[in-house]
Amino acid sequence: MIAVILVGLYAVWRWPARHAVAPGDAARGATLYETLPCASCHDISRPWPGGDICPNLGNIATEAARIILQPDYHGHATDAAGYIRESIVDPNAYIVPGPSYRQADGQSVMPKTFGQSLAPAQLDDLVAFLLTRR
Ligand code: HEC
Repeated sequence: MIAVILVGLYAVWRWPARHAVAPGDAARGATLYETLPCASCHDISRPWPGGDICPNLGNIATEAARIILQPDYHGHATDAAGYIRESIVDPNAYIVPGPSYRQADGQSVMPKTFGQSLAPAQLDDLVAFLLTRR
């Protein structure tokens, strides 16, 4: 009986700690999104796809979960968070079909440098923010 109570107390004590380390802070991600050049290409207020220059990101969490299940998706993501992260760090992994989303050489129009210029924690924040766009 004592052991059961102790295990229960330990679980309650550990719970906030485990949840505090959950990656990404959506509020910090929103600020990053506005201060990085993301917003100069993407429209976050309108639904996917829509954009002439870039896909709109207004419901990217829902679309990301759908895209990874499509037969023509050939990236490595297995969930919406993974897809969004992959789109930011390795835009060529899967290029969204769109009128002008590809350069003449076949590469994505999206800059390929965010994987180097952003810290892993900043990527976590951006992904957390974009996951709120459902
Ligand atoms: C120069 C314009 C440009 C900038 C700046 C840019 N992107 Fe993109 N982005 C694109 C284009 C074009 C695509 C579609 C082609 C592709 O899939 O790579 C895209 C695709 C994406 C996707 C996948 C969208 C989908 O419909 O599947 C995400 C997520 C994304 N960008 C997020 C970001 C974030 C976050 C930033 C800022 C850190 C950013 N982008 C900066 C042009 C841009």
